[in-house]
Amino acid sequence: MVNYDLLIKEAMLARGFSYSPYSHFKVGCALLCKNGKIYTGCNVENAAYSEAICAERTAIVKAVSQGDTEFSAIAIVGGIDEITDFTYPCGACRQVMSELCSEDFEIVLYNGKERKLCTLGQLFPNFFKKESIK
Ligand code: THU
Repeated sequence: MVNYDLLIKEAMLARGFSYSPYSHFKVGCALLCKNGKIYTGCNVENAAYSEAICAERTAIVKAVSQGDTEFSAIAIVGGIDEITDFTYPCGACRQVMSELCSEDFEIVLYNGKERKLCTLGQLFPNFFKKESIK
């Protein structure tokens, strides 16, 4: 059973570390592994704008580089000041998620008031798979 409230709380804390002096759009996330571990991430921007790294990819790379590759859910929060809208993962992050996460991987969004649950299969159907290049 996924503790969605805990995951959102961890994402909010991680958002506090966002390095976003260019967009001022602060994103935080918390990635839950099947073994129960949680890896957090924030967006990390760069003066060379295109080198910005999203919060989701930060968390996934942290997890994989520490030996965790099986995931069940991710909570994502974003906004400039207060959180007022749902922040959906960008296309690049959806592709990166699709490498290691199954269709039922849960994506938990929070707009400051309520949460919304989606699955990777809903947000990213018919993706380019590793099986395609065998
Ligand atoms: N961003 C994320 O961290 N995750 C997303 O899924 C959407 C966008 C970041 C990238 C950039 O630092 C800022 O939000 C504005 O696009």
